[in-house]
Amino acid sequence: MLEKIRDIITHINSFQAESSEEVENFRLKFLSRKGELNLLFDEFKLVANDQKRVVGQELNALKNLIEEKFKELSEKVNEGAGNNTRLDLDLSLPSTPNSLGSLHPLSIVRKRIVEIFSRMGFNSEDGPEIESDWYNFSALNFAENHPAREMQDTFFIEKAAVQKDDILLRTHTSNVQIRLMEYKKPPLRSIMAGRVYRNEAISARAHCQFHQVEGLYVDKNVSFKDLKDTLLHFAKEMFGKDTKIRLRPSYFPFTEPSAEIDVTCFICHGKGCNICKHSGWVEIAGSGMVDPDVLKNCNIDPEEYTGFAFGMGIERITMLKYGINDLRLFFENDVRFLRQFKGA
Ligand code: DAH
Repeated sequence: MLEKIRDIITHINSFQAESSEEVENFRLKFLSRKGELNLLFDEFKLVANDQKRVVGQELNALKNLIEEKFKELSEKVNEGAGNNTRLDLDLSLPSTPNSLGSLHPLSIVRKRIVEIFSRMGFNSEDGPEIESDWYNFSALNFAENHPAREMQDTFFIEKAAVQKDDILLRTHTSNVQIRLMEYKKPPLRSIMAGRVYRNEAISARAHCQFHQVEGLYVDKNVSFKDLKDTLLHFAKEMFGKDTKIRLRPSYFPFTEPSAEIDVTCFICHGKGCNICKHSGWVEIAGSGMVDPDVLKNCNIDPEEYTGFAFGMGIERITMLKYGINDLRLFFENDVRFLRQFKGA
């Protein structure tokens, strides 16, 4: 029996296992109830008394060896398999919900405006917020010392030797009209959304920054009727299919003739309320036929091409649409305000 025990010891010393399956086979072979170790202990009962001490010592040594070897093999195989065999995670637990943000109300309205015009064939264009006087004023036919310049409360960044080279924060998105006509030639049909700046004291009704959407359509035979139809379609899409528009004569240096666009009040539907100041109409945009001088400034022949342009304030439309009465709310980013636009 001693010889048998020593044979097993040699075997175990050189034994290696690569997989957990092999380790399990090792356990079954040596350590299970009917495994070799128990068989040897059964056999031990039959060993002659005078040999019991020697054989007993060997057998105990074998038992310790087998147990140690089993521990060592299990550890080795588990390490190789990474941690996934020892996960203490409960994979059936429901996950922590992601808290989703919401779009800013100005983004919601801007996207909607751009989408409506894009379905009428207008593409989106972009221009700089830091601009020269030329693009913001001079090319748009604002004569030097024209009072309309004063009306726009400009933030100047750098005064130059000649006025048209002054650097400023754009006061409207109309600068993009000029840039567009300079680098692309008609037919042009574009919508231009962005941030604009004016040096105004901040209050519920005025802010030093706000957003506008500019539209420009230049091609052969573009008429005032095209302008009217385009803006009527926009108003119906934006405020509801029963919306009507009205054009009021106005003045802008870069359009001739010019008109202010009103829509029927979509809050009271013409009955009269605070929003429309009981007139039944609310103003949403300035517009007009592009002045021939503006086309000339961009090297477009006004004999060949005509165009219309319009500009609207995104804040104004958003305030009307959602009944918001304080402009400052748009820029304070109070989550209690912003959360209300979830899913809008
Ligand atoms: N730029 C004007 C403003 O900020 C708005 C405007 C009026 C834009 C008429 C236009 C237009 O393109 O044709 O008050």
